[in-house]
Amino acid sequence: MLELRPITDGIGTEVRGIDVTQDISDKDFDRIYEAWIDTTILLFRDQRMTPAQHVAFTRRFGEVYAYTRSQFNQDDHPEILVLSNIVKDGKPIGSPYSGRVWHSDGAYLERPPVGSMLYAREVPPVGGDTSFSNQFGAYAALPERVKERIADLQVVISRVRSRPYNYPDRPAPTAKERAEWVDVSHPMVKVHEVSGRKALNVGGNVPWEIVGMPQEESTPLITFLQEFAVLPRFTYRHRWRAGDIILWDNRSAMHRASPYDETRTRRLMHRTTISGARVERPAA
Ligand code: OGA
Ligand code: MN
Repeated sequence: MLELRPITDGIGTEVRGIDVTQDISDKDFDRIYEAWIDTTILLFRDQRMTPAQHVAFTRRFGEVYAYTRSQFNQDDHPEILVLSNIVKDGKPIGSPYSGRVWHSDGAYLERPPVGSMLYAREVPPVGGDTSFSNQFGAYAALPERVKERIADLQVVISRVRSRPYNYPDRPAPTAKERAEWVDVSHPMVKVHEVSGRKALNVGGNVPWEIVGMPQEESTPLITFLQEFAVLPRFTYRHRWRAGDIILWDNRSAMHRASPYDETRTRRLMHRTTISGARVERPAA
């Protein structure tokens, strides 16, 4: 029997009593979908799925796509992005690390993905946790006068200027990347397309600019909000077990990977990405 339990009182729902590879009735699925929209992340434990089942289950939540056209997409299932430090025949099988600073995926895109489903296949004995932060909760907890102050602000997100913050070890963007990566702007307070709830959209570590505001004013404001956005009461740090699945709503949650001993231990995660989800709420 389907059972939904809060992960913490600030974020997330653990979904129990189902096998995600079996048929899930529309009625049960609607409850699961609602919990995803309302609590920003879902956790399913002790699951076994093939790549095809992973894609099929993700597809119930929305349209699945190959997020990055990378060499780390699975050959037979390009919708699956492999995150791993494992090297096979001298070649890395996956992207060795993913966002180790607080972020939402593709914030620098005109239309960021709406969510992602991460499935743990092999996990290191220590480290490699993933943290999540509820941006509905962060917004709701802001003092009223801060809400008023930020109500109509637009943030400017530059993929080019973000690079040294997000990937300090990578080379500076090339001329071609600079030309392709145009800045985008998004509301600092995002209205969720399904629930209409407001979520804070301030990023995690890059001092995003604010339209029409001088930097000496925008940097302290956004830096304060970034700290606030990840206060412990809005966050949850997940210690993975093999067989765990977490689905996050990229519109209302930020996340962050944590390090592990890549030289002596192995981590293998499969990820699918959702480009668009259904927006109507299920009938009550
Ligand atoms: C991601 C990501 C975190 C992790 O896949 O977008 O940030 O812990 N992953 O692997
Ligand atoms: Mn990420």
